[in-house]
Amino acid sequence: MIESDRHPFLEGLSKHRGAPPTIIVIFGASGDLTTRKLVPAIYNLSYDNLLPANFTLIGFGRNPISDEEFANIANDSVKNYSRRDLNTNVWEKIHSNIQYHSGGYDDFNAFKTLAEKIDKIQSKNGQDSQILFYLSTPPSVFEPILRNLGESGLSSRNLHTRLASKVIIEKPFGRDLKSAQDLNNIMGSKFEESQVFRIDHYLGKETVQDLLVQRFANNIFEPIWNRQYVESVQITVAEELGVGSRGGYYDKSGALRDMIQNHTMQLLSLIAMEPPVSLHPESIRDEKVKVLRAIQPLNLDGDHSDVVRAHYSEGLIGGKKVDGYLQEKNIPNDSITETFAALRLSINNWRWKGVPFYMRSGKRMARRVSEIAVQFKKPPGILFTEGNRFDVASNTMVVRIQPDEGITMLLNSKIPGLETRTQPVKMHFGYATTFGSNTPEAYERLILDAMIGDSTLFIRGDETEASWKIITPILDYWSDCGRQGLESYVSGSWGPLASDRLLWDKSHEWRRSGP
Ligand code: BG6
Repeated sequence: MIESDRHPFLEGLSKHRGAPPTIIVIFGASGDLTTRKLVPAIYNLSYDNLLPANFTLIGFGRNPISDEEFANIANDSVKNYSRRDLNTNVWEKIHSNIQYHSGGYDDFNAFKTLAEKIDKIQSKNGQDSQILFYLSTPPSVFEPILRNLGESGLSSRNLHTRLASKVIIEKPFGRDLKSAQDLNNIMGSKFEESQVFRIDHYLGKETVQDLLVQRFANNIFEPIWNRQYVESVQITVAEELGVGSRGGYYDKSGALRDMIQNHTMQLLSLIAMEPPVSLHPESIRDEKVKVLRAIQPLNLDGDHSDVVRAHYSEGLIGGKKVDGYLQEKNIPNDSITETFAALRLSINNWRWKGVPFYMRSGKRMARRVSEIAVQFKKPPGILFTEGNRFDVASNTMVVRIQPDEGITMLLNSKIPGLETRTQPVKMHFGYATTFGSNTPEAYERLILDAMIGDSTLFIRGDETEASWKIITPILDYWSDCGRQGLESYVSGSWGPLASDRLLWDKSHEWRRSGP
C-alpha cells in the first residue's frame, strides 16, 4: 500500500489479511456487474494487499474467448471503472492469475472441465483453495448453475478441496415469496446456509454499516429511539437516472422488487432493530429479521391505502429534457411497471407501535439522494410559540447514506438579537471531512468478507422470505388492478402527489431537500 493511500477503513481491514487461498469463479464474466464492479473491486483489493497469496480469478461465460482476451477485458474494466488508476505493478500481480472458462450454464461438461481446471491450479500451488462461486448472472440461470455445481462435486467439501466452498449471489432473490422459497430450497440442497452469501450492496456502504455504531455506541440515542419520542421515520432512495440500457430487466421488475424489497427494507431493519446480543453475524441478522416479521400487513385499497406506485413521464433532469418511461428502450408502450413506489409501514412491536415508517424509492427523481430521517416529536408548545409567532421545528436526525455522506441533526436555536426568536439550525458530521474521501467501494468490502467467511453484511435466507411476505401481497394486488391506480410523475420531480397524501393522515411531509 502506498503511504498516501492510508485510510482508516483500510487499517480496520487488517483482520482480513487471513483469507485462505482462494479461487473465485465469476459466472456471467462478460456482464455489466463484472465489468463495472467486480473486477475493479478485485483489483483494488490487490492494490491494498488484501488478497491471499494464492488467488485466482476464473471468468466463466458463454463467449468462446481465451484467457488473454479475458485479461484484456479485465484490464479495460480497471481502466474505466476502478476508483484508482491502473498501476502496472499491481496489475502484473493479478494478471498472471486470471483465467477464462467458456461454457454454457446448463452444460454439465463445462463444469467437469472447470473442476479439472481448479484441480490443476491447486496442485500447481501445492495447496488447497476455497472456491468462491459468484453468480453474477440473470436469476433464470441460478438453478442450472447450482445443479451443475452439485453434480460435478464442486459444491462438496473434500472432493476437489478440503476447504468449504462458498456461493455469492446477487439479487433478485426470487420474484415473490414462492420463488424466493424455491430458490432458498435449491440453494439449501447444494450448500449449507453458512456457505451462502446473498449480496445487498447497500450493506457494503460505509454509512449503512455506521447505522449500528451510531445507534449502539452512543448512549444518547437509545433512550429516545422509540414511540415515546419518535414522530415518524422516512427512508428515501431517490435516483436521477432512468432505466437506461436495463429496460429489458427493469420492466419485469419495477421499483418494488428492484429497490424496496431489498435495499430500503434493509435500511428499515437496521434503523428499527433491537440491540443485538453481540456483533456475531447471526445475532445481528436475528434482530433484523424480527423487525421484518413485526411489520403489519398493509392496507392496499381505498382512501387509506398504504402504497403508491407510479412511473415517470418526460421532464427535465439537470436542465436536460429526458424521455418518459414508456419511451425508453425495450419498454413496451403499454407497460404498467412502476418506477416509483412509496409505502407506509407500521411495526407492531413494543418499541415502534404507532410510529409510521415511510419509504419511497424512484428513478428520474429530483436528485440522487439516499437518506434516513428520524423525526422526533415536538416539545410542548408553551414557551417559544407564543402568539403562534414562531413554530419550533421538529428535531430530526438525518443520516445521509449517499452522496455527501454524513449525519445532520436539526435543532432549534435562538436567533441573535433582543427578541427571543427561534430558527432551525444544523449540527453536521461529514464522513469525507473527518475521515477523508476515496473510501473503498461496497464490493471490495463484500468480496473480502465473503473470502474470510464473515456473513454479517449478507442477507440470510429467512430475511429475504420475511421481506417477500410483506411485498408479495402488494405485487398480487397491483397485478389484479392492472393499470388502475398507477400514477405518473414528471421526471425531475419528487414523485406523484399521491405519495404526499400517504403522509397527510398525520400531517407529515416528505423531506424535499438535503439537510
Ligand atoms: C440496484 C438496482 O440494486 O441498485 C438499480 O438494481 C439501482 O436499479 C441501484 O440503480 C442503486 O444503487 P446505488 O448504489 O447507486 O444507490
